[in-house]
Amino acid sequence: MLQILFFFALLFTFSKNAAAIDFCVANLKRPAGPAGYPCITPTKVRTNDFVFTGLGVAGNTTNLIKAAVTPSFVAQFPGLNGLGLSIARLDLAPGGVVPMHTHPAASEILYVLHGKITAGFISSANSVYVKTLFKGDVMVFPQGLLHFQTNGGGKPASAVVSFNNPDPGLQILDFALFGNNLASSLVEQTTFLDDATVKKLKGILGGTG
Ligand SMILES: *[C@@H]1O[C@H](CO)[C@@H](O)[C@H](O)[C@H]1NC(C)=O
Repeated sequence: MLQILFFFALLFTFSKNAAAIDFCVANLKRPAGPAGYPCITPTKVRTNDFVFTGLGVAGNTTNLIKAAVTPSFVAQFPGLNGLGLSIARLDLAPGGVVPMHTHPAASEILYVLHGKITAGFISSANSVYVKTLFKGDVMVFPQGLLHFQTNGGGKPASAVVSFNNPDPGLQILDFALFGNNLASSLVEQTTFLDDATVKKLKGILGGTG
């Protein structure tokens, strides 16, 4: 008898808890912590919190890198909060490139929708893994490693990229080196590049100093 009561008590506890942890739609007005954003009140959650529209349209590639990333991360798609995943669209015009970069908080998987994309990453041991990908091909970029994507053909290319984090983070190497106010002398010392090259790259990428 006691065992049966215990079983029902357990069942009740679990059913209550299960409902409480189904989802945690981000309250974007509050600061995010390492575990993500705090949740909005469950009664205020709407279907559209779990829907993102906009990846069907090519991003604007009229820019320096001739590339566009349309993110569907937690900031754009609050229903992703706490679920450990996100998605984005990548468009590359002919000559387009996503320069060498890392996502500190996520591995990435890329699926080519159309066109030809040459992509690669560099391991901690500085081994190079590069491949030219075509429609339907998938490549994975392990978390934290430097990687890039370029248009390998003469026509526009596009891909869907997915991450195992609602907020994968992004650091672009060129901007880290030449897009800020780190003194040119220190950039030269740490990169072994000459003054003219550093000044030129700072000019292109918006750096000063
Ligand atoms: C694309 O971006 C460029 C540069 O910012 C801008 O001049 C152009 O109007 C944009 N095109 C569209 C279709 O939004």
